[in-house]
Amino acid sequence: MRNFPKIHLGALLAIGSASLFLFLFLPLGPVTLRVAQADPPADQEYTGVKRCASCHFEQFMAWRTTQHSKAFELLPAEYQKDEKCLKCHTTGYGQPTGFKDFATTPALAGVTCESCHGPGSKHEEICQPFAKVKELTPEQEQKLRGSIWLTLPKNVCVECHRTKGHHPSETPPALRKKR
Ligand code: HEC
Ligand code: HEC
Ligand code: HEC
Ligand code: HEC
Repeated sequence: MRNFPKIHLGALLAIGSASLFLFLFLPLGPVTLRVAQADPPADQEYTGVKRCASCHFEQFMAWRTTQHSKAFELLPAEYQKDEKCLKCHTTGYGQPTGFKDFATTPALAGVTCESCHGPGSKHEEICQPFAKVKELTPEQEQKLRGSIWLTLPKNVCVECHRTKGHHPSETPPALRKKR
């Protein structure tokens, strides 16, 4: 009899966790499948915001109103070539097809579409033949959407926003005092 409560508790826990497992995971299965996104093709090149805007004008107009679109021009002139700043204030800096300097790659200045969605050259190629199609079939839509990230799988915002405002180590003293 002294053991009874122990066994009872163990059995209860087992049944409890089994049903909790079923409760939590059975309903999630299909949901997870529906949301899962095909991995976009690798090795895409950065194309710049103008290319994206040619098909996504609404998103472009919305983006124009955000601070992200001004992230390069707000850099004081002496910092517009400073690689310490460019990795967060431009798109794809340090990548082979990313931002180089304002003269060569003006459409990658600032935090543009491809900072959050990843490079999109193959996405554009795949979508081009459908640009004039009014109603995509579900299969077509899935294929086109699957060719670019809805958001990059890494924690994309935190890559640049590690603290509220600048981390002191990233802000030159002159700018720090102004804040
Ligand atoms: C040739 C036209 C075209 C170009 C250029 C283009 N897209 Fe798309 N994009 C589409 C179409 C079509 C879809 C499918 C959804 C839809 O019908 O809006 C799509 C879907 C997307 C999605 C949704 C992905 C998802 O998982 O739901 C994102 C994000 C996106 N595009 C970003 C971009 C970015 C960033 C660029 C520039 C690098 C770009 N697109 C260039 C046509 C284009
Ligand atoms: C790790 C990413 C990162 C780096 C590196 C970085 N910045 Fe920023 N910067 C940001 C973010 C994020 C914001 C927006 C901060 C906010 O409003 O929360 C910002 C905002 C700014 C602003 C406007 C607001 C302010 O703080 O005055 C200026 C100016 C600026 N940065 C200059 C620079 C300069 C100059 C450098 C290089 C010495 C630099 N940044 C390096 C991420 C970065
Ligand atoms: C700071 C990050 C960021 C930038 C910059 C950005 N986006 Fe997005 N975009 C997102 C996120 C996050 C989502 C998904 C959530 C949502 O729909 O709001 C998204 C959603 C989208 C979608 C899918 C809309 C839908 O409902 O099917 C398209 C298309 C898109 N963005 C295109 C663009 C284009 C084009 C640009 C540049 C002009 C751009 N984005 C700039 C983060 C960004
Ligand atoms: C490539 C670096 C980068 C990425 C990725 C990025 N940001 Fe930013 N963000 C910045 C910079 C730089 C600024 C400052 C731009 C300016 O003030 O003109 C900023 C500004 C902002 C602001 C305005 C802050 C203010 O003080 O007005 C918000 C909100 C914001 N980002 C949210 C986000 C979110 C949410 C995501 C992810 C979906 C994201 N950012 C991804 C670099 C980035």
